Amino acid sequence: MRMMMEEELEKRAALVTDAIEQLLPVVHPSGLYEASRHLVDSGGKRLRPSMLLLAAEAVGGEAAALAPAAVSIELIHNFTLIHDDIMDNADVRRGRPAVHKLWGESGAILAGDTLYSKAFQVLGLTPADPKRLLGAMNMLSRTCTAICEGQWLDMEFEARDSVSEAEYMEMIEKKTGVLYGASAGMGAILAGASTEVVLAMDLFGRLTGMGFQLQDDVIDLTTPEKVSGKRQGGDLIEGKKTLIIIHALANNVSVPVFGKKEATSEQIQQSISILQKSGSIEYARSRAEEMVAQGKKALQVLPDSDAKTTMLELADFMIRRRY
Ligand code: IPE
Ligand code: IPE
Ligand code: MG
Ligand code: MG
Ligand code: MG
Repeated sequence: MRMMMEEELEKRAALVTDAIEQLLPVVHPSGLYEASRHLVDSGGKRLRPSMLLLAAEAVGGEAAALAPAAVSIELIHNFTLIHDDIMDNADVRRGRPAVHKLWGESGAILAGDTLYSKAFQVLGLTPADPKRLLGAMNMLSRTCTAICEGQWLDMEFEARDSVSEAEYMEMIEKKTGVLYGASAGMGAILAGASTEVVLAMDLFGRLTGMGFQLQDDVIDLTTPEKVSGKRQGGDLIEGKKTLIIIHALANNVSVPVFGKKEATSEQIQQSISILQKSGSIEYARSRAEEMVAQGKKALQVLPDSDAKTTMLELADFMIRRRY
């Protein structure tokens, strides 16, 4: 019998965490591997590897065999987070000090690089037909390039006075959407799905992943650090051009942003309440709803199954979550 979505996700997250233990041992030089494991061992929702496993199941594949592929997605995600925290001057992640706070920037760059390269090695351990494996590797490597493009745009937009909504959407598709797209797409490829189904899965992940990033931008403003594990208002301090800020600028709302300077929690709270009153937060939320609704339509190509139902519930959770 099918469990509640939360339990379905926990079951898959546990499978991934157990596999990481085996696939990423702490070896010589131990400091490098401890730095690489710090964030991986700090929890995280494991939504992307869960999506990979669910996608495989939804096309008739066997989830347990795909544990290495699921781990590879989580390692890529953690690699991007370690480097992202350097770029975003973020000191806290998953409620613990960021890797660069403990091992310095050079240590964090190397820890991220280690996860990046290990991810491909681990993916190669997946017991699957070599053609399917090559397809998955190709998808993952193209995805990593796109993430770099997205992160580059994210940085570039900080320095700009204005950014259009279309530019923002391109940026979040690349920095966040594509990894969810690869999660669902690789699950489908490895389980032997047709090209039509793989493309539909990729689209599902990409669009819901964009909704996920819109909600992440909302969480940055609305969720206290003790719940999110990340600094509240960090995007305001860094001058991020989120859709919330783009909406406010378009509506001549004057929002105090802090241009990389420290701000008191009162100043941050004041900005947040301005963005709430201007409807800018609500606007981003409504766009997130639209992205998820569109993404869910892509799954119409699949026959009904428990895994498909869980994927649809996961899509809703991606924008309902508060952490
Ligand atoms: C955070 O992702 C990074 C973004 C793309 C917004 P998650 O919110 O999935 O982070 P963890 O893995 O659960 O910590
Ligand atoms: C992160 O976006 C995207 C990637 C890591 C590729 P954010 O910078 O918004 O993520 P958080 O809020 O730090 O988790
Ligand atoms: Mg960032
Ligand atoms: Mg960040
Ligand atoms: Mg964020």
